[in-house]
Amino acid sequence: MAAPTNQAAWLTTAGTPLKVDEAPMPTAGPGELVVKNAAVAINPLDCHMQDVGVFVQQWPAIFGCDVAGEVHEVGSGAEGRFKKGDRVIGHAINLVTGRPQDGAYALYTVIPADKAAILPGNVSFTDGVVVPFALEAAVCALSLKVPGPAMPGVFTPALALPYPSLQPAASTGKVLVVYGGSSAVGSMTTQLATAAGIQVISIVGAHNFEFSKSCGAAEIFDHKDASVVDKVVEAVTKSGLEFVGIFDAIASPDTYNRDLAILSKLGGGHLACVHPPPPEVPENVKAGMIFAVNDIATPVWKDYVTSALESGKLKCLPKPNVVGKGLEHVNKALEMSKAGVSATKLVVEL
Ligand SMILES: NC(=O)c1ccc[n+]([C@@H]2O[C@H](COP(=O)([O-])OP(=O)(O)OC[C@H]3O[C@@H](n4cnc5c(N)ncnc54)[C@H](OP(=O)(O)O)[C@@H]3O)[C@@H](O)[C@H]2O)c1
Repeated sequence: MAAPTNQAAWLTTAGTPLKVDEAPMPTAGPGELVVKNAAVAINPLDCHMQDVGVFVQQWPAIFGCDVAGEVHEVGSGAEGRFKKGDRVIGHAINLVTGRPQDGAYALYTVIPADKAAILPGNVSFTDGVVVPFALEAAVCALSLKVPGPAMPGVFTPALALPYPSLQPAASTGKVLVVYGGSSAVGSMTTQLATAAGIQVISIVGAHNFEFSKSCGAAEIFDHKDASVVDKVVEAVTKSGLEFVGIFDAIASPDTYNRDLAILSKLGGGHLACVHPPPPEVPENVKAGMIFAVNDIATPVWKDYVTSALESGKLKCLPKPNVVGKGLEHVNKALEMSKAGVSATKLVVEL
């Protein structure tokens, strides 16, 4: 049998379309897996990488964060959890390593075994690939215990909330507001928080109320409602639970204005954001920016993901929208992502 060969969608210069071309066949280092990708997903970060080359350390670049496929090679130290042929999902971290082999937009990708999980037989690659990056972002938003660096001069939030549980979670007595609960990261944070016994109050578009409820939100409000601030404050107060703060998965000037208004009326709390937080916040607001590559997620990858997917406790949401089959469809998927999506994840099958 001929040795397998690799191809990738390469970014040669910022602001240009990716070019599908040959790529070196990667090998698995210690603690790594090489995955033969069956599906990859698009994240807004990828659009920024393509447009301006942010986070690119090595040109030409291969990027992309989400893979689902079969294990092709297992690196030393990872044999206990994985073997060749296993179906897996995983988080590719070219974002921090800069190595082209760590980008998802290729036929074969290297991922850390600690950021991978067996995909149960009842979940397709296309569904499973929506999970990895959003999952790690959600764990970083919820469970970091100590603030660390997110980017120069910006610290991560440290909400120190518990991990999701496979058992029906006892209430922690806490309530969290998720702003942007229909986004990939907001909906995954809603799922994981709910599975950790934290009540979620979610802010989404009116057309996504049912979707956010299916992720576990207890109360849902429309981000276009002019009185959303007062309604959220009333819901938090009525819950009688301890207010943790807000996870803002949108992080725009408008959402920050509302976040700060809610926090002001509720006496302060955490403001965890997906982008740098507002520069000036009152003393009773602990603001930070998540950085979604962190070992805090390892126990969730190892002990939660496979069983939770198998039982249906962890749902592959938002649902995938398959743009096409083949690496040449990544460009179209990136364009669609830039145009905006609602409660869906763009996926390219391979
Ligand atoms: N710092 C990090 O480590 C990190 C990690 C991952 C992602 N991110 C960032 O997090 C953001 C979200 O990423 P994603 O993949 O989750 O995005 P996404 O799924 O593409 O976001 C789409 C969603 O945004 C919602 N939305 C847009 N404007 C809104 C508003 N004003 N209020 C409430 N919801 C609004 C839409 O809701 P409706 O359709 O319901 O209106 C839609 O469902 C991106 O900016 C991404 O770059 C950062």
